[in-house]
Amino acid sequence: MAEKIILDSDPGHDDAVAILLAVGSPEIDLLGVTTVGGNQSLDKVTYNARAVLEEAGATSIPVHAGCDRPILRPMENAASIHGQTGLDGVDLPKPTRPLDEGHAVNWLIDTIMSNDPKTITLVPTGPLTNIAMAVRMEPRIVDRVKRVVLMGGAVHDGNWSPCAEFNVKIDPEAAKIVFNEPWDVTMVGLDVTHKALCTPEVQKRIENTGGELGVFVSHLMDFFRKSYQDNQDFVDPPVHDPCTVAYIIDPQVLTTRRCTVDVQCGEGPALGMTVADLRGPEDPTCHTQVGLGLDFDRFWDLIADAIQNIADGKGQH
Ligand code: BDR
Ligand code: CA
Repeated sequence: MAEKIILDSDPGHDDAVAILLAVGSPEIDLLGVTTVGGNQSLDKVTYNARAVLEEAGATSIPVHAGCDRPILRPMENAASIHGQTGLDGVDLPKPTRPLDEGHAVNWLIDTIMSNDPKTITLVPTGPLTNIAMAVRMEPRIVDRVKRVVLMGGAVHDGNWSPCAEFNVKIDPEAAKIVFNEPWDVTMVGLDVTHKALCTPEVQKRIENTGGELGVFVSHLMDFFRKSYQDNQDFVDPPVHDPCTVAYIIDPQVLTTRRCTVDVQCGEGPALGMTVADLRGPEDPTCHTQVGLGLDFDRFWDLIADAIQNIADGKGQH
């Protein structure tokens, strides 16, 4: 049976690929996309989510807009990486499906509470504001969801500061709430996603897969590559967010380790750091785990397959 997921995202070039991977993979049942201010303003990322679903022909999938800023801190975006629109580098189709009514946090709660227990997986790929707000508004969702597989944080790395990753750094209080609730959380952080590089070989393959859609993704990657070259001293861009969905499709894509994770919220150079305790022995009952390794070939195979499936009309509509 396909795994029911909700993508909570801030598209974003790599969020867009995560949406396409979900839509194009038969192992996934995408119930909806919720949006959060992050890579760009809430209005922009919400439009982008709808446009990407339009591009994929997946207009039955609802999009609900959520929080436009972090819980405590001022809004900060990643225009340096994703451009002024949040998805610079491509011409987006105009969404035909109107934005769905209802705040994302309310919709998340209603959807989780009205589905069977332990059937829905939350997949946050932006700041964790909506998820933390949902937990505070309706604490029963913690028992009710199957698991949370999030892109954010890092064990050994940082991109928005020397030791903090963007999604966690932007709203560290929200991240602290999410990691400290006793649900099953998989942190897919930079230790994994900095291995998910869109090399020129990979990009050529994507460009030649699924006709126009492959070209669309390749144009996204052209912009993303330049951003990462100019701002982060990367040669090839790391395609972070789809690593979450790939892990749900095929757990073999990641190597993981169970360990506690807490978030540093005090002011100072470590603000937003995810502190993972890797000291042994591993506790198999720990409710949090971190991704450490990525099977590069499996990961890109899944993305190529999803693009082909969508182009063949076999994606979710
Ligand atoms: C994360 O930050 C965003 O810019 C990306 O979309 C990804 O979710 C990587 O740190
Ligand atoms: Ca993102």
